[in-house]
Amino acid sequence: MVKLHDLEFEPYLDQKTLQKSVKELAERIAADYANKTPVFLGILNGAFMFLSDLMKYYEGDCEISFTKLASYEGISSTGEVSTLLGAGNLKGKDVIVVEDIVDTGSTLEHIVEVLKNEGVASYRIASLFLKPEAYKKTLPVDYVGIEIPNKFIVGYGLDYNGLGRNISKIYQLKSDPND
Ligand code: HPA
Ligand code: MG
Repeated sequence: MVKLHDLEFEPYLDQKTLQKSVKELAERIAADYANKTPVFLGILNGAFMFLSDLMKYYEGDCEISFTKLASYEGISSTGEVSTLLGAGNLKGKDVIVVEDIVDTGSTLEHIVEVLKNEGVASYRIASLFLKPEAYKKTLPVDYVGIEIPNKFIVGYGLDYNGLGRNISKIYQLKSDPND
């Protein structure tokens, strides 16, 4: 059990399960990108640990970059504008977006929108976790490590209000016995 802020979490996935999944993903991606030099684009902060391990298993040429999605109100009435901070020039690159978790998919949609505007050669999405019950979009998540129920998890890069990213296993929010 771990306590973060006001909530208690119980063990859910161990390191062995995570590493097996990450290794399998690396091998699948490497097979698909055999003659290419993809850019792995990790979405901060959550993807830092996953991308780090993914790269240890990835055999083949590749580039690594990290970015943070920043949204701000545009000057026109069109509303929100998104940019990928620090991503570098992605024009003409084969980009693999690396997410820790895909939940509703709205962040992902913003990211893909920006990538298209940047003129990338291709893009695909890799996420360690997917919550199919929460996912509302039609955008395909090309590489999924582990599908999980719609319950809040922490660890391995994922946080609860800033805490828990450094835990090397995955913990799940403890069920309320009164539910
Ligand atoms: N845990 C942490 N961060 C998240 C989650 C989760 O389950 N879903 C979306 N962001
Ligand atoms: Mg978070």
